[in-house]
Amino acid sequence: MLDRMQAGELPKKPHTQFWYDPADGTGGRRLLREHCLTRVGFEGPFTIAYRLFGPHVQTAWSAYELPAPELGASEGDAGADLCLRRHYQSQVLGASSRSPIEARVPLLTSSDVTIAVMKPTASDTRYLENGDGDDLYYIHEGGGTLRTILGDVAFGPGDYVFVPRGLVHRFDVAAIPQHWLLIEAHRDLHIPRQFRNEVGQLRMDAPYTHRDFRRPDFRGPVDEGIREVLVKREGKVTRFTYPESPLDVVGWDGSVWPWAFPILAFQPKVSSVHLPPTIHGTFAIGGGLVCSFVPRVTDFHPDAIPCPYPHASVHCDEVIFYCKGNFTSRKGVGPGSVSFHPMGTSHGPHPGSYEASIGHARTDELAVMLDVFLPLRPTAYARALEDRNYHASFVPAELLAKREGERASPSEGDES
Ligand SMILES: [Fe+2]
Repeated sequence: MLDRMQAGELPKKPHTQFWYDPADGTGGRRLLREHCLTRVGFEGPFTIAYRLFGPHVQTAWSAYELPAPELGASEGDAGADLCLRRHYQSQVLGASSRSPIEARVPLLTSSDVTIAVMKPTASDTRYLENGDGDDLYYIHEGGGTLRTILGDVAFGPGDYVFVPRGLVHRFDVAAIPQHWLLIEAHRDLHIPRQFRNEVGQLRMDAPYTHRDFRRPDFRGPVDEGIREVLVKREGKVTRFTYPESPLDVVGWDGSVWPWAFPILAFQPKVSSVHLPPTIHGTFAIGGGLVCSFVPRVTDFHPDAIPCPYPHASVHCDEVIFYCKGNFTSRKGVGPGSVSFHPMGTSHGPHPGSYEASIGHARTDELAVMLDVFLPLRPTAYARALEDRNYHASFVPAELLAKREGERASPSEGDES
């Protein structure tokens, strides 16, 4: 939903006759089917595609069971319900032998968003139409090509990849290892409105430009020999069979299309003193904000403390996916770590980080953060990947030693 694009052949006016003569001479002259991809009913952004065949004509349908993640779930322990800071180690997750459609491992979920990690090793052999939300991937490792009815989007490490809800697509995985973060936005994903001017153009003080987005490379009708489309709705999957290739678009125009955006294209803002994390806001989702922490100079007031201050962000759960570099406020996390700091429990920097940050002129941290307003529920898979010493890692060493001494004596124990 960035701006309007146009690709391939179009009639002069929507909803009028568009007769098409295939260049290969195989099908004869035909009246194309218009396919309107609309959002928010018919009130929001839309794209109109012109297709050789009816996108609504399926010849077979059946239930399809997505396999459970290849990871032992951790069920039923009391510590899972405590309001503690959590650290999930997606780096220790084994590579899946599956394609992206089947490799998702959900970690945290609410009615607004599902956050998953995945390590696919194979390309999708079916198309997916996700009715449950917009998909925003962050490619921590790997790359490949997103194939859609609107064209191909190549992607690589450090890219966000956006797939709008309901767009028929699949992933070709180029190589391994692959390690992706997925934010499935159940309401919507959009460019923050304050980044736009009155005609919808990205403002000159926005943190990125129109040119930073890699747009779909439209190839016209393509037949990959695939006839199956999986439709996901409320987590359930229906498998549809089409008589012809679903990649049958002759031309399209509109504002709903897939893209890739390199995280390092995000232009950070800095100040004399520490700015709140909203300054890293990159994409808005219904009920949350996706932020990009990228290398930058730090706060330059002579008495500045570049490390984030402890805070009680009482209306937000905070999730951070660590990609690269030393994170100013955190210790014990590395590339692939996912931290989850729930609302209700104040959080802040690890012991020593506050003082150690003084005098630092720049940071090389790279991370994706998500602040959401609805409480997230950790899944049993998240619990299985959890570093259960994380909450205690915020206790200074001398207090930790004292605490351990007290725990050695018979008293009430902790659960984590
Ligand atoms: Fe925070």
